[in-house]
Amino acid sequence: MEVNIPELLKENSKLVEKKLDEYLTDLDEDTSVLTQSCRYSVFAGGKRIRPTLVLETCRMFGGNEEIALSCAAAVEMVPTYSLIHDDLPCMDDDDMRRGKQTNHIVFGEATAMLAGDALLTSAFEILTQTQAPAQMIVEAVRCLSNAAGSTGMIGGQVMDMDNEDNKGELTEDKLIKLHAMKTGAMICASVQLGCLAAGILPSDPRCLDLISYADSIGIAFQVVDDMLDVIGDEKDLGKPIGSDEENHKTTFLSFYSLEDAFEYAKVLTNKAVATIEEYENSETLRELAEYLLNRKK
Ligand code: IPE
Ligand code: IPE
Ligand code: MG
Ligand code: MG
Ligand code: MG
Repeated sequence: MEVNIPELLKENSKLVEKKLDEYLTDLDEDTSVLTQSCRYSVFAGGKRIRPTLVLETCRMFGGNEEIALSCAAAVEMVPTYSLIHDDLPCMDDDDMRRGKQTNHIVFGEATAMLAGDALLTSAFEILTQTQAPAQMIVEAVRCLSNAAGSTGMIGGQVMDMDNEDNKGELTEDKLIKLHAMKTGAMICASVQLGCLAAGILPSDPRCLDLISYADSIGIAFQVVDDMLDVIGDEKDLGKPIGSDEENHKTTFLSFYSLEDAFEYAKVLTNKAVATIEEYENSETLRELAEYLLNRKK
């Protein structure tokens, strides 16, 4: 049976946004500008890929939907925070994100920075508040902190700064490492949290298969991202194209033609699909991988 992925993303977004709305409520009028700034970016219309990975992994294993929803909300706060900081003048200095003005343009740099700080912190608070058994919560905090911190996303951001103006002259292996950290780690954490919501520990062979799936789609996601920065539509993407070229970045297109890059992303996607094919109820995650390969935004 064919799964309608755009429809599924819409439905999952609705569920996660309801949760996010509960967590990002203005309780203290003295800090309401912070809540507004957080809400501005959280509800700016991201694709909700990571929360969908949490939910669909959990569903595939017949886990607890309510715990998965909290994990999904927590996971979505991390890339949102990272993008607020990433757009700041001291980093990429970007004015548009998800088709809207970036957070610091609307709220000022200081508030944008603090909104990012608050979102990152809230993500962990939310994990500790789930109804999952204590061991699962500890594992969830470990997975998310490993993925978000210096061994994951932030480490990748640092490598990416070195990648500007071709300073470091990255090899293809280093480029893959950079993206595995910057983007892949959070995609990986998403499936790990989905497993945990189903009571499956990160060391379980089933979770290891899901991690391998996530590793492959993480790199494929970035190959497609590099392609979209060249051939994408700014309206679809909600951010300007051509920025890699402008910043003299090494990308997968430094090593592959557009055609070969797509072939490479396809190979990775097929590998991801093959890893989970044997599992019952894996069609949604398999079709999600295919959808991400052909995404336009
Ligand atoms: C944003 O990822 C960039 C990273 C954190 C690597 P997405 O492409 O999933 O962005 P949104 O959430 O849809 O805006
Ligand atoms: C943003 O990376 C990724 C993180 C914040 C982890 P980029 O700087 O490459 O992404 P865009 O182009 O701003 O979306
Ligand atoms: Mg950046
Ligand atoms: Mg950026
Ligand atoms: Mg990019």
